[in-house]
Amino acid sequence: MPRDRPSPREATYEAPPNIALVKYWGMRDRARAIPFNSSLSVTLGRFRSRTHVRFDPALFEDKVELNGAPAVGGPRDGVVRFLDRVRTEAALVDRARVVSDNNFPTASGLASSASGFAALAGAASRAAGLRLSDRDLSRLARFGSGSASRSVFGGFVEWRAGRRPDGRDCYAVPLYPADHWPALVDVVVFVEGAPVKEVRSADAMQSSVATSPLYARRVAGVPGRLAAIRSAIARRDPKHLFPLIMEECDNFREVCETTRPTLDYLTTTSRVVLGEVRALNREAGTPVAGYTHDAGAHVHVFTLAPRARKVRARLSRLPGVRSTLLVRPGPGGHPILRPPRSTRRAPPPRRGRP
Ligand code: DP6
Repeated sequence: MPRDRPSPREATYEAPPNIALVKYWGMRDRARAIPFNSSLSVTLGRFRSRTHVRFDPALFEDKVELNGAPAVGGPRDGVVRFLDRVRTEAALVDRARVVSDNNFPTASGLASSASGFAALAGAASRAAGLRLSDRDLSRLARFGSGSASRSVFGGFVEWRAGRRPDGRDCYAVPLYPADHWPALVDVVVFVEGAPVKEVRSADAMQSSVATSPLYARRVAGVPGRLAAIRSAIARRDPKHLFPLIMEECDNFREVCETTRPTLDYLTTTSRVVLGEVRALNREAGTPVAGYTHDAGAHVHVFTLAPRARKVRARLSRLPGVRSTLLVRPGPGGHPILRPPRSTRRAPPPRRGRP
C-alpha cells in the first residue's frame, strides 16, 4: 500500500428535527437563502437523521440513498446541489456516496428536511475536509433547507435573518440548552389521512410572499412576537408562551390560507385538535397548553410535565387521531466519530493451539 495514501474522505453526522414556535415563511433573497424574518424553534429529542458521506474519485456521479432506497427526482437533486456547494467551498471535484437514515418514518410528518440537511451539511463538510464552526455549519445548512440551519443546535434556537445583503449574518444561534426548562413537553399529535406534501415549503412560501395580502403585515409583526416568545422562554413562563405560540401559528396559517392557490395543510382532525387545546385553556381558566403546526397536518401541543399525560390522553381519544408521542427538547447535531483503523481495538486472541 503506498505510504502517502490520502485518508478516506468520509464522515458521519447526526442531526435532530425541530419544531418552529416562530415560523420561517418566505425568503427575501432566494439565491442566498435569506429569510424575511428571524425564526425560533425547539430541537426535538428522540429523533435524528444520520448521514454518511464519502467522496470517492472512482465515482462518475453522486450516489444517494435515503432510508434504504436510492433517491430519485427532487430529493436527489436537492442533495446533489448541496454537495456541489460543498465541493465548490472545498475545491473538490470527486463525486460522493451519501447514505442517510431517519429513526422516524419520513411520512410521520416530522420535518425530515431540517434534520436531513443539517446531517448532510455536517457529514459532507467534514468529509470534504472543511472544519466548520457550528455557526458556519448553520450558515451552510440553510442552503439545503432553511429550517436545517436551526437543527445544528440543541434546545431553544433562533435563526437570525440578519441585515447584510450577502447573508454573512444569517445563521442560527443557541438561546438556551435542552435542559433549560425541564418541565416543558411537546405532545406530538399524529392525525390520520395527513396528505403527502407535494410542494416543498421553500416553494410554497414564495407563493405566499407573492400573493397573500397578509404577508407584509406578518413580516412587520414577527419581530415583536419573537421577542415576546424569547422572553417567555427565558422566564419559563407558560402563561405567556402558550397563547403567543398559538397566535403565531394562527397568523402563519392565515397567510397560508390567503395564498393563491390556497395552502391548506390541516385536516378536519387537526382543526379539532386545535379547538380542543383552546377548550383545555378555557376550562382551566388559564393557559395550560399551546399548539403549533408546520406545513403539515400533525399538531405539536406544548404543555408542562405534570399535566402532559392528561393532555395526551385527552387528545388521543379524539376521533381521527392516529397516535401521540411525548417529546422533550433535545441536543443538537454532532459528528459520529470512529477511531482511525490503526487505533481500533484488535480482535481478541483466538483460544486453543495456533
Ligand atoms: C413551516 O426550510 O423546512 O416548517 O426544506 O422546503 O421543507 P423545505 O423548507 P423548510 O421550511 C420550513 C417551514 C416551516 C416553518 C419553520 O420550520 O420555520
